[in-house]
Amino acid sequence: MASSKAPEIKAVFIKTRNVRNFEEMVRTLDLARGKGRFGAVVGRAGRGKTDTSIFFASNQGWPRLAVSILWQSSDTEFLRAMCRELGEKEPPRNKARCYGLIIDHLAGKHKPFVLDEADKLSQRHLEIVREITNVTGAPFILLGEEELEFLLQRNRRVWSRIYQKVDFEGIGAADIMGFVSAASGLKLEPETALLWEEQSGGDFRLVDRDLRAAVHYCHAAGGREITPEVLKAVWQTVLSGSGRK
Ligand SMILES: Nc1ncnc2c1ncn2[C@@H]1O[C@H](COP(=O)(O)OP(=O)(O)O)[C@@H](O)[C@H]1O
Ligand SMILES: [Mg+2]
Repeated sequence: MASSKAPEIKAVFIKTRNVRNFEEMVRTLDLARGKGRFGAVVGRAGRGKTDTSIFFASNQGWPRLAVSILWQSSDTEFLRAMCRELGEKEPPRNKARCYGLIIDHLAGKHKPFVLDEADKLSQRHLEIVREITNVTGAPFILLGEEELEFLLQRNRRVWSRIYQKVDFEGIGAADIMGFVSAASGLKLEPETALLWEEQSGGDFRLVDRDLRAAVHYCHAAGGREITPEVLKAVWQTVLSGSGRK
């Protein structure tokens, strides 16, 4: 008999293969202390780029900013947002002063500045970031979808400062098993995890959504395992409801 308490899934951050590659990149970046440099993380939506950058930035106290398309036409707004991230509550409206403040904050610092959704940067803003890393020696980590790589390759001065590029791959069966166990405590056989990997196309967001539904399904049925039948029932519901994406 299933208990009546509504099941919950825990908010967990797990060390996937991508996260381990990210950590390795950070170590490599750190080895080149004092030089202007970039780390780049490239991968499709749903592969865990943002969550990984938030996890490390909040644990290590790194400044982190998600780039907005709205800044493409304004240097000042981009620089002011960076200033705010560095603790300036009321950044100046003058871009040269903003730039000066950023240099003061970052000069000689080893913590990386994280720019998420960096594929939205204009070439000009990328050039500004290159100047900042060059002058201060503080590293930048750029994360974005596949377009980011083309954006970086077009700018040779930036590309030559990329210390390491990490390609975020789709979530694999082993990571799905780790995630399900940590977040729900439910059992999952390796073959079922493989089926899930295939169905999700490696999109962590979809696995997360399916898990929420599967937990409720198991709870209602009084089961402790996510079987292929449970997953098929979940996908059936998703397909007949809002659809997959
Ligand atoms: N390491 C992780 N541990 C647990 N859940 C994760 C992890 N990485 C991603 N997720 C889940 O996948 C979803 C999508 O991740 P996100 O970082 O937004 O991907 P991206 O930025 O690559 O589009 C998150 O909302 C979260 O539910
Ligand atoms: Mg993201």
